[in-house]
Amino acid sequence: MDPMLNIAVRAARAAGDIIVRAMDRVDLLNINPKGRNDFVSDVDHNAEREIIHTLLKAYPGHACIGEESGRQGPAKTDYVWVIDPLDGTTNFLHGFPQFAVSIALFHRGKVDKGIIYDPLKQELFTGVRGAGATLNNRRLRVTKQPSMTGALLGTGIPFKDQSYIDPYLGMLKDLIKDTAGIRRAGSAALDLAYVAAGRLDGFWEIGLKKWDMAAGVLLIQEAGGIVTDLEGGDKYFETGAVIAANPKLHQLMRGLIEPHITDSLRYRADDPRHSSE
Ligand code: IPD
Ligand code: CA
Ligand code: CA
Repeated sequence: MDPMLNIAVRAARAAGDIIVRAMDRVDLLNINPKGRNDFVSDVDHNAEREIIHTLLKAYPGHACIGEESGRQGPAKTDYVWVIDPLDGTTNFLHGFPQFAVSIALFHRGKVDKGIIYDPLKQELFTGVRGAGATLNNRRLRVTKQPSMTGALLGTGIPFKDQSYIDPYLGMLKDLIKDTAGIRRAGSAALDLAYVAAGRLDGFWEIGLKKWDMAAGVLLIQEAGGIVTDLEGGDKYFETGAVIAANPKLHQLMRGLIEPHITDSLRYRADDPRHSSE
């Protein structure tokens, strides 16, 4: 296996062990609000610490950006790890079994490796730019679903920024009409991994952060899918909004989403919310 991927897999599995061990004592955890409807627990912090320790021990010249602890390591480096130690914290805190560890390596600003690990199902999704995406070593492909009719879509319902609710509901209403169903499972990283694995035909969400999506974006691209922002561009890390599917379905989803894009959802280089870090 690719040596950097190997280290990241070791880090993700160690974090997964921390998460699973804590599952039956959630009531004893310190849980703190980070913002509206947004919580963080000891488990998020401990898992992140473990991942960063493993990565920086192996690669002291690299930097890490963790959801909970921010940036560590040298300011100038070609290699930056972006880490979500527990994607699906709300699920985890409720004993709802859908959450994962997500780790991405950016090389000179582009995602080069991605790891998403579901510690309950023991499913390890990996992607390496130019070398494909796998689930437990089996090669992944997005589906060939050509139409909205019969498509199974994943999504995330915006719950932090209320200004997204109306445009989102407009999108949902139009996307619901022809599909076979829409799932809101509560972990954007796993939603994206499931598109790469062909379990979902497509996915869209507004209000994500880089650590929610970086690894999953690479998995989908390496599995033959397309990921864009709502306007069809490549500013998904900047805007936090994403549409992902096979090329044909992506085009159809984008057409239905387009009429609902408000000004605040469009990419603007001078919008402080649209910075990728
Ligand atoms: C959240 C999950 C959820 C998405 C939220 C994210 P967290 O991540 O990915 O599916 O809808 O926007 O913040 O907070 O559990 O790491
Ligand atoms: Ca997350
Ligand atoms: Ca998280």
